Amino acid sequence: MKRVAIFISGGGSNMVTLAESMTGDHPARPVLVLSNNEDAGGLKKAAAMGIPTAVVDHRPFKGDRPGFEAALQAELDKAQPDILCLAGFMRVLTAGFVEPWKGRMLNIHPSLLPKYRGLHTHARALEAGDTEHGCTVHEVTPELDDGPLLGQARVPVLTGDTPDSLAARVLEMEHRLYPAVLRRFAAGDKTPVVLP
Ligand code: GRF
Repeated sequence: MKRVAIFISGGGSNMVTLAESMTGDHPARPVLVLSNNEDAGGLKKAAAMGIPTAVVDHRPFKGDRPGFEAALQAELDKAQPDILCLAGFMRVLTAGFVEPWKGRMLNIHPSLLPKYRGLHTHARALEAGDTEHGCTVHEVTPELDDGPLLGQARVPVLTGDTPDSLAARVLEMEHRLYPAVLRRFAAGDKTPVVLP
């Protein structure tokens, strides 16, 4: 049985769908939900699901990223996960933290990578006049929002869409894509999942 840690910064809706999927014949179980934000709504949701939680606030480190990342790794050393899922974790991790986790760390990004790395992906897709948009799960490498693709889900861009309405449509697909990818990945299969 694989052990999974999940990093969040906010509400944690992706974390909840991942945790809820890891039951029955699923090859993994959640062992930790960690946030850099003590007020993250997802921490309460994880605790209510009986998952151990931890907070490593980045602010006291005042830009000392190796120091912050050493504190993250110390929590991981306690939980001993096999797989690390970034789910709305809004801190950029350096190569020093990522390299030891290469091939074992996943992230979900709200665009059809390699398009729109970084922030504000929905507004940028609308500004570009795209007719379709979506989300991607990929292995994490030191390059931001890069790394081998493990899954993608596409949604139509509709007339009158705003960044918020598009984000809501993409989030629904995130909640289907990430659990499907994790189930396959935890079983050792890196064949990309394509939705719908
Ligand atoms: C998601 O859209 C994810 O793709 C992005 O941040 C959002 C997090 O949402 N990185 P939640 O905290 O999982 O609800």
